[in-house]
Amino acid sequence: LEQKLNYNPSEPPFVTYYVPFIGSMIEFGIHPIKFIRKYQKIHGNFFTFLMFGRRMTVCIDLDGNDFVFNVKHSNVTAEDAYNSLTKPVFGEGVVYDVPNSMLMEQKRMVKAGLSIENFRAYIPIIIMEVNQYVDKYWTKDEESIDLLQSISEMIIMTASHTLLGPEIRSRLYEGIADLYHTLDSCFTPIHFLFEWLPLPSYYASEKAHAELDSIFANVIAERRKNPGDKHIDMLDALMASKYKNGEPLSDKHVGNMLIALLMAGQHTSAATTTWALLNLAANPDVVDEARKEINRLVGQELKGDSVPEVSYEDVKDFNVLNNVVRETLRIRSPLIQLMRKVVKPVAVPNTNYVIPAGYYIIASPIISSTDEKYYKNAEDWVPSRWNNDETDDSADKNMTDYGFGAMSTSARSPNLPFGAGRHRCIGEQFAYLQIKTILYTLLTRFEFELDPKRGMPERNYQSMVVLPEGPVLCRYKRRATSN
Ligand code: HEM
Repeated sequence: LEQKLNYNPSEPPFVTYYVPFIGSMIEFGIHPIKFIRKYQKIHGNFFTFLMFGRRMTVCIDLDGNDFVFNVKHSNVTAEDAYNSLTKPVFGEGVVYDVPNSMLMEQKRMVKAGLSIENFRAYIPIIIMEVNQYVDKYWTKDEESIDLLQSISEMIIMTASHTLLGPEIRSRLYEGIADLYHTLDSCFTPIHFLFEWLPLPSYYASEKAHAELDSIFANVIAERRKNPGDKHIDMLDALMASKYKNGEPLSDKHVGNMLIALLMAGQHTSAATTTWALLNLAANPDVVDEARKEINRLVGQELKGDSVPEVSYEDVKDFNVLNNVVRETLRIRSPLIQLMRKVVKPVAVPNTNYVIPAGYYIIASPIISSTDEKYYKNAEDWVPSRWNNDETDDSADKNMTDYGFGAMSTSARSPNLPFGAGRHRCIGEQFAYLQIKTILYTLLTRFEFELDPKRGMPERNYQSMVVLPEGPVLCRYKRRATSN
């Protein structure tokens, strides 16, 4: 390594700390974005801080994003950073519990369940699920509700139905939702920091995982008995998938992969949909604009409790809603720290920094996506800023020509809410489809206003996925049917 460098390598600067071992954990934990911005001013785009004995090197702005997302896998890996956190939740044999080359193959298998054909089938299911939810729970003419809770439930119902299939969806009310919540309780920073502690949530999650395994195994066995019955969902796609060497994905791994996908999409999409609706509630002019476009595309004025089916092309062409989601993700990305672990010392290009083995590196694309250097009034929510944007919005790109990352996505964009490189999100198109269809259904049936006492919530940084600080109150008002 030294030979290659031909200059004096040094580590990135270290943030001063006063409490040994714990280091900067408290300051970072309270408000990671403020923390990173503060030390960016002092140290630049690469610096290290101590957090509970771990050395974490923050890598930000375009150079930092590019470095973390495209660094050589032989030196730096995601599985060494994430597996202790994800294995108790996802189970063995999938995602970070396999060599990276196998994860790349598993991501290819998932793509089969995210085809345009599947998306076409998912839209009416999403509309039906949202309708069913609001018919059951939003029964008044007007009322303040906990929006995050409602949206989270809509996301569970729509994702379970479209990805896991109708059999598992129909059993959600029989306790499957509780099993998800139990698994979820392992996804906290505590479990990352104290991976060596036998936390009670691990035992609970092991039990929940075993129960889900057996439910999935039954459904899979039933489907295998009737191979002629075609289902358009992720479960069928995974059951039919094979590795390059011809080996199928085992039934157990099909189940584990489904859990992983649900978990990957649950809080991320729920947070994004909730922030989008809160911002729409605060910006009625954007709601008007979105409805005008929808009415034009659908060819009638939509208002009231009957929500017409819309085509995949319509949803794709809801540009105002597209900009709403994109802008929401720019300022309220739910994932603000993406981690890797250095397994062999790694040089940071165009600097004389070398990061030693054992360090974690963190990308935080929200730092560049809310930087005035790239976006005017960067903290303001202005969906129309994307109106004439020519940059490739892969959310609208055909899945089949979309290379799901494998080192091909440029990481030199300031706005990377779905990451980049080999670990880039493959759920982006699904998330856009799901969120836009939920917004379409809700905006047809309801007006929204921020709760006057709560206003716009702050962000809560205490979970792995940044959520709006609860209770997230929002007022819905039923729209009278036109004519
Ligand atoms: C990876 C964000 C929804 C499945 C990622 C990454 C980000 C991200 C930032 C990169 C992680 C890293 O580099 O460490 C989001 C956001 C979502 C969303 C903001 C919603 C608004 C979904 C959904 C699914 C999904 C709905 C599944 C259907 C995945 C998978 C990976 C991933 C499989 C790949 C992990 C890897 O290769 O290491 N996502 N995601 N995501 N996401 Fe998403």
